[in-house]
Amino acid sequence: MKDLILNALPDRYPWKEHFHWFDTIGSTNDCLKHMARNGAPHGTVVVAGHQTGGRGRMGRTFLSPAGMGVYLSILLRPNASARELMHLTCASAVAMCDALEDVTGLQPEIKWTNDLVFGKQKLGGILTELGFGATGNVEYAIVGIGINCCQNPEDFSPEIRDIATSVKMVSSGSVDRAAVAAAMMDNLYQMSEGLLSAREETLRRYRSLCITIGQHVSIHRGEEIRHAIALDVDEDGALLVSLPDGTVEAVNSGEVSVRGMYGYI
Ligand code: BTN
Repeated sequence: MKDLILNALPDRYPWKEHFHWFDTIGSTNDCLKHMARNGAPHGTVVVAGHQTGGRGRMGRTFLSPAGMGVYLSILLRPNASARELMHLTCASAVAMCDALEDVTGLQPEIKWTNDLVFGKQKLGGILTELGFGATGNVEYAIVGIGINCCQNPEDFSPEIRDIATSVKMVSSGSVDRAAVAAAMMDNLYQMSEGLLSAREETLRRYRSLCITIGQHVSIHRGEEIRHAIALDVDEDGALLVSLPDGTVEAVNSGEVSVRGMYGYI
């Protein structure tokens, strides 16, 4: 698989030397965090064919069965503050929509903040984690992405069957996971190049792909649930919502999950 991915990467891709493949791993984010602490360079990528401890946002599990998906994490060492990196998950989501479009010809969309969706069903997710130095500076950022590639509906557990989909299910053909992984790596490389300079354009694209904007949503913070209407995504990637009392609040993805009023979307 490693050679197939390397062969599918375009010549412009500069980090071929820093690409690591594992048949099975606990979590690509955890592995890369360990490598980051031991000095791994900007652009290091870990891809696995199977994760036994895949993690999602808010402490959730990300099911990562063998041979079904691409489970990938990239290490970035941007020379920027945490504030300047608030839109990193949004920029990565746009890059993953581009990657999937490159491979399938189809345009996925985004459920705020980090879910890749197709036809209102979840195709994949993104988990971004920052590492800080002693003075509070950002030492590294890890963006981890899991994409469902080869599942048929019966491969998903009954609890998520209605809300999950795969590249195979939406493109009705065989799926080349090496091509998906290479497109993800190349689009993440291009995203990293414009991360700070193309911020406004990236957020414009994020808004145009984000299906949450304009929806009635429920906002879950611990036990508390509030209803609101999603108005927009601000320059930090926060969701601007209008509450029933007329106030507008910026909701940060670190603290809350947002769902549609009647289910996942
Ligand atoms: C989510 O849906 O909340 C985010 C899921 C992120 C899953 C990916 S798979 C590769 C990387 N390694 C992990 O343990 N998680 C991310």
